[in-house]
Amino acid sequence: MSKVIAIVNEKGGVGKTTTSTNLAYLLGKEDKKVLLIDFDGQANSTMIMGDKNPNEIETTISTLINKVITKDSLPPKEDYIIKNKGIDLIPANSNLFTLERNLCNINFREYILQSLIDEIKIDYDYIIIDCMPQIGTPMINVMMASDSLIIPTQAEILSAKGLSELVKHYLTIKNINRKLSIDGILITMDTKNTIASKEVKKILNESFKQHINIFDIVIPRSTKVSEANIYKQTICEYMPENAVSKAYEQLVQEMMKIE
Ligand SMILES: Nc1ncnc2c1ncn2[C@@H]1O[C@H](COP(=O)(O)OP(=O)(O)O)[C@@H](O)[C@H]1O
Ligand SMILES: [Mg+2]
Repeated sequence: MSKVIAIVNEKGGVGKTTTSTNLAYLLGKEDKKVLLIDFDGQANSTMIMGDKNPNEIETTISTLINKVITKDSLPPKEDYIIKNKGIDLIPANSNLFTLERNLCNINFREYILQSLIDEIKIDYDYIIIDCMPQIGTPMINVMMASDSLIIPTQAEILSAKGLSELVKHYLTIKNINRKLSIDGILITMDTKNTIASKEVKKILNESFKQHINIFDIVIPRSTKVSEANIYKQTICEYMPENAVSKAYEQLVQEMMKIE
């Protein structure tokens, strides 16, 4: 049985890509069969986990989605899966920015990604989707195709307060995709003992704790995360002993307990 986990937040810069790539990398190291789907036209996961410049890649998630829309069969897996760092990656590039428009006249447009994932999920233990920072038809597709969501949020007050909108969307979609759950809210880029850090934890606990899991582990802030990206690496590869890497390892442990 494979589990499809989407890393979602309609805000940018909250740690979606960092969480997606590190989770995928760590699960791959645990000998799980992992597929990471880059579902953001900015293609940051593709830059970190891929082996080519995104705009030089011919077959991306956009190509596959268009095949589903036109009811063509998918190309052979070798043509679109990038195998690197112990995981499989379906890359993205800027073509994905037109997806919202391409979907607008399609029947059953909310189910396109689900059809695609249904065709390939048998090969994987985990499918992780690194999402775009918008809510619209593409993100409804993600929530229809997923088993669970992880919601990273920066340790900042406005980020934490913005989550109620996302939770509303989740509850609406859950009426249709009944298996969808939230694995947890993940606090990222935390600086311990600051007022912001304490307030964010308080707000999240007051607003959500009763019905949504908030991961015990908090991802600390470290300049090494963006340094790792310069070398096209996740922090877990670049500095396995860094506090951020250790925190992501603990996140994997917490996630395993949820299943
Ligand atoms: N724990 C962290 N500490 C410091 N910087 C981080 C951390 N996590 C992410 N970043 C940096 O913050 C920026 C946004 O993170 P990213 O994961 O790309 O967010 P998103 O995918 O939500 O836009 C990136 O430059 C990334 O390197
Ligand atoms: Mg991103």
